[in-house]
Amino acid sequence: MLADRFGRTIEYVRLSVTDRCDLRCSYCIPKGFKGFEEPENWLTFDEIERVIGAFARLGTRRVRLTGGEPLLRRNLPELAGRLSALPGLTDLSLTTNATQLARHAQALKDAGVSRLNISLDSLRRDCMADITGRDSLPAIMDGLMAAKDAGFAPIKLNMVAMRGVNDGDIEAMVGFCIEHGFVLRLIEAMPMGDTGRNAHYLDLQTVLPALRERFGLVPQSAELGGGPARYWSTPDGGFTLGVITPISQHFCATCNRVRLSVDGTLYMCLGQEERYELRPLLRAGCSDAELEAAIRAAIELKPEKHEFREKPDKIVRFMSMTGG
Ligand code: GTP
Ligand code: 5AD
Ligand code: SF4
Repeated sequence: MLADRFGRTIEYVRLSVTDRCDLRCSYCIPKGFKGFEEPENWLTFDEIERVIGAFARLGTRRVRLTGGEPLLRRNLPELAGRLSALPGLTDLSLTTNATQLARHAQALKDAGVSRLNISLDSLRRDCMADITGRDSLPAIMDGLMAAKDAGFAPIKLNMVAMRGVNDGDIEAMVGFCIEHGFVLRLIEAMPMGDTGRNAHYLDLQTVLPALRERFGLVPQSAELGGGPARYWSTPDGGFTLGVITPISQHFCATCNRVRLSVDGTLYMCLGQEERYELRPLLRAGCSDAELEAAIRAAIELKPEKHEFREKPDKIVRFMSMTGG
């Protein structure tokens, strides 16, 4: 088992398989950004399997594939199949923008991906084009429906709520989720790089009471994932709302995760700089025992909490570099 200096058990690895993306969401990657990681620095599937295998031996149960956009990494279903076969891993999930999901949904399901989270900030085509930098909604809708047809359940929709951008779309998103059986998750934008740190920040505490009242939501205690969301449901269970409030009510005391970026860096916290580079070790031919010792040493570096609120200018890397 991996425990950090604050007594938290680390059992969830967020694995970024690429820092690239076909979209440019305003809160994630700056328009025109060119500084992506060079392919020779990407961990290979063999290297990823080795690292995740070591984490699994140390007690990790959950792995989430992220990016950038993970489906841009060629042969992702093959990697998913290799990871889901690792002893000890019981939960392999994927966070995607869904633009390429129609082509891959069934293969991912067959490879053992059990849960899908999909970014969708609005049902309005022009609003999505503004946020993502291109006319993305039709492809996303195709991907979403393919995921539903492939039998993924529950599918969670991640909506970064932004004042004056898509806060007027929340009710329409609720209706859409009720119709299709999706879970809606409202997320507060985090200041990463020069994105996310903008005038559109919406404190979710200001919209939740009205939403709870409007839809008769009651707290949901069933485990719906391994992450930071808190959930409410309608009494008949037909609709579930999750909220992720890193700024207005942070959840660092129960953090259970670390992040592995595409270049083999372990990031200990989304909102701090502590990190440990595994790639040099892997490419120097380290033993399994050395790899496990390095992971333990990295976990020792995990900080107590982020400081997005106190120091909003601190983190200069973008969300896509670390993987959500
Ligand atoms: P499950 O609960 O396992 O379904 O996944 P998740 O909600 O952790 O994953 P997802 O990739 O859908 O992330 C949803 C939002 O939560 C994104 O905005 C992430 O950046 C944010 N998030 C995930 N983990 C953390 C974390 O450790 N700290 C902070 N501050 N935000 C996080
Ligand atoms: N703040 C909060 N959430 C973000 N995401 C991307 N950038 C940010 C940010 N700055 C979300 C996306 C995606 C998930 C992985 O992270 O909506 O669904
Ligand atoms: Fe791409 Fe996801 Fe970032 Fe949007 S939030 S730019 S879809 S990685």
